[in-house]
Amino acid sequence: MSRTYRSFAKINVHLQVDGRLPDGYHQLRTIFQTVSLHDLISIEETSASGIDLEVPDGGAPADETNLVHRAARTILERWAPGRGVRIVLRKRIPAGGGLGGGSSNAALTLSALPEILRVEPPAHEVRKIARELGADVPYFLVGGTALGLGRGDDIVQLAELPEQSLLLVDPGVAISTTEVFASLGAPRLRPMPAAILEYLATGQAVDIPDLGGFNDLEEAVLERVAEIRSVYTSLRRAGAACVRLSGSGGTVFACFADLERGQEAVRGLSGQAKTFAVRTLSRPAAMESRVVSAGEGEWL
Ligand code: C5P
Repeated sequence: MSRTYRSFAKINVHLQVDGRLPDGYHQLRTIFQTVSLHDLISIEETSASGIDLEVPDGGAPADETNLVHRAARTILERWAPGRGVRIVLRKRIPAGGGLGGGSSNAALTLSALPEILRVEPPAHEVRKIARELGADVPYFLVGGTALGLGRGDDIVQLAELPEQSLLLVDPGVAISTTEVFASLGAPRLRPMPAAILEYLATGQAVDIPDLGGFNDLEEAVLERVAEIRSVYTSLRRAGAACVRLSGSGGTVFACFADLERGQEAVRGLSGQAKTFAVRTLSRPAAMESRVVSAGEGEWL
């Protein structure tokens, strides 16, 4: 059996750094949201044992350093020893862009591989492996709107935010998450926005611009990277209802009723900026379109 899956990106609607943990990681309160931008991952069992990973268009390594490879190896070693898979990963999500591409790919592999091999690893074991692969990976096992606590890997499902069309702008500058966190020094503590507390308490959905979210990593990134600063400023000037860095960047997302206005604003910028017109996806919507069915456009 061969199946092709969509591995969706995320944005951080809100990202608050509360301080540094003893292991050097930072304690976060973040709201994750799935968006329609995705990579494609095709998986089939092979007669040979081991992992045959192919990344045809580049954009990610095709070796053991790829999180897909590491996720697949753990599943095979523990629940399907001696068996083998061929995995083809086609990338769209910019690498190092704060959209969680690699983490999404890893989580998709952790959930899809057992389906293909017809094995059933216990859910708590899969969550544990996800944490070991990276701080964003556990979120992607859930998807939709979710709160990330601790290192961002303690996940609480939230009431889904209303669907929102967004422009994602990748300035084409890969950002090191480690460096961004390291540059924070002692982070300023800020109280959580009242609208977010209200939303968490009542479970009543609110439009993203009305949430009053922010990203504590934004200032450090905007200060350092001129390309990201100019994307950010142009989107603000174009009248976006929200403009925010996703994760540690460099992708900036913007809320527009009319995406064309935002696209025009960044068209004039020089450099490598790439734009993606996307919409947010609730958990049920992401689950429904997780598998590519025959005759359906893959990059919907
Ligand atoms: O877990 P992941 O590999 O995604 O994290 C990359 C780096 O980002 C970590 O090595 C750490 O330096 C930093 N980080 C952090 N606090 C977090 C998440 C990531 O300091 N909550």
